[in-house]
Amino acid sequence: MVQRVLTGITTTGTLHLGNYVGAVRPAIAASRESGAESFFFMADYHALIKCDEPDRIETSRLQIAATWLAAGLDTSRVTFYRQSDIPEIPELTWLLTCVTSKGQMNRAHAYKGAVDANLAAGEDPDAGITMGLYSYPILMAADILMFNAHRVPVGQDQAQHIEMTRDVAQRFNHLFGQGREFFVLPEADIEKEMALLPGLDGRKMSKSYDNAIPLFEGGAKGLKEAIARIVTDSKLPGEPKDPDGSHLVTIYDAFATPAQRAEFRQQLREGLAWGEAKQRLYDLIEAEIGPMRVRYEALMAHPEKIEAILLEGAAKARAIAAPFLAQLREAVGLRRFTAVAPPQAAMATKTKSALPVFKQYREADGKFYFKLTDAQGRVLLQSAGLEQGKAAGQWVARLKQEGAAALREAPVQRDQAASEQDVLEALAALQAAEQA
Ligand code: TRP
Repeated sequence: MVQRVLTGITTTGTLHLGNYVGAVRPAIAASRESGAESFFFMADYHALIKCDEPDRIETSRLQIAATWLAAGLDTSRVTFYRQSDIPEIPELTWLLTCVTSKGQMNRAHAYKGAVDANLAAGEDPDAGITMGLYSYPILMAADILMFNAHRVPVGQDQAQHIEMTRDVAQRFNHLFGQGREFFVLPEADIEKEMALLPGLDGRKMSKSYDNAIPLFEGGAKGLKEAIARIVTDSKLPGEPKDPDGSHLVTIYDAFATPAQRAEFRQQLREGLAWGEAKQRLYDLIEAEIGPMRVRYEALMAHPEKIEAILLEGAAKARAIAAPFLAQLREAVGLRRFTAVAPPQAAMATKTKSALPVFKQYREADGKFYFKLTDAQGRVLLQSAGLEQGKAAGQWVARLKQEGAAALREAPVQRDQAASEQDVLEALAALQAAEQA
């Protein structure tokens, strides 16, 4: 069976080199493997949880979309979309919310971390915590389960969310599946490298540590300046350096071939100056990133092109999501009222077939006539001959609308075999049908 791989990026900022090495590059590489079907998306609903600045949200999702495309994502092979373009996702979120235990959400790291911080600050435990933050893992579960992903490449910090997704999926399958496994239980693909690409100071590269090397922001100049700020020891040019203790070397490795890695280490041991080492690192990264930056800038100059690509991706995603969600709605009991004919509809059909009928016709004398028969064809009323066909039609219309009230004036006679009661009932039935 084709393995589905799915991952999302929360659109609250721009991507740095660590995101590129840890998430974007491996995801693009994986999408080129045959036998995998990939889904990548901008988790912009998740962004709203963390950010209430509309302009920042707007810019970030555009920049991140452009980054993926510039980095070589082939949208003919993968499904690339914005979470917020898929209304089935929030709908599924609700179905899942209704089977998620609150106790489990209480234990979510992000929520617990926020509570602990509040307690430490002597605040109310839930101060500043929104329901969005609290329910964050359920929205993420919907992202994954909507497309029945088998593998979810994420950072270590997201591993718990995948566990929760499996739990929720299992509960839903158990409650509503009736033997059918609606949801695949996903596996987290924890990228070792993702946690490991160090920042300027040697800690994990992260916006929050302010130690990130920008990917495209600031251009080639920005990249060079950031690399110049990588912290090294103070060994002088010519002094032998220990490559294994240096995070500059770790960053170099992330872009180098095995041969380049060996050579770089050798030169450092032989006394390569840190300044020169930084220049080599810059050249290496720029060789990979530079051509992407050109594509990135071209895309950023034409947001409408990105929009078109994303809408195409959303259509592809919804072609899967919409029919699946329809099955899930069905499973929980949100069903159309068409499977069984309701009593009201059955009655209406019966009455209709039993309705009396007016028939209009022209006789050999050239005059126009009409008659009222009951459902069985027995004549109840017979008109006189009229000069105009139109007049016959108008009387029929009046008798249907006004019933017995029009009877006194109408040019009609009751058939001898019919009782007055038969006629009144027949007209009442027609009048009721007319008003229905
Ligand atoms: N929560 C993830 C993060 O912040 C982003 C994300 C949202 C995601 N939905 C997802 C990742 C589904 C993988 C699958 O990194």
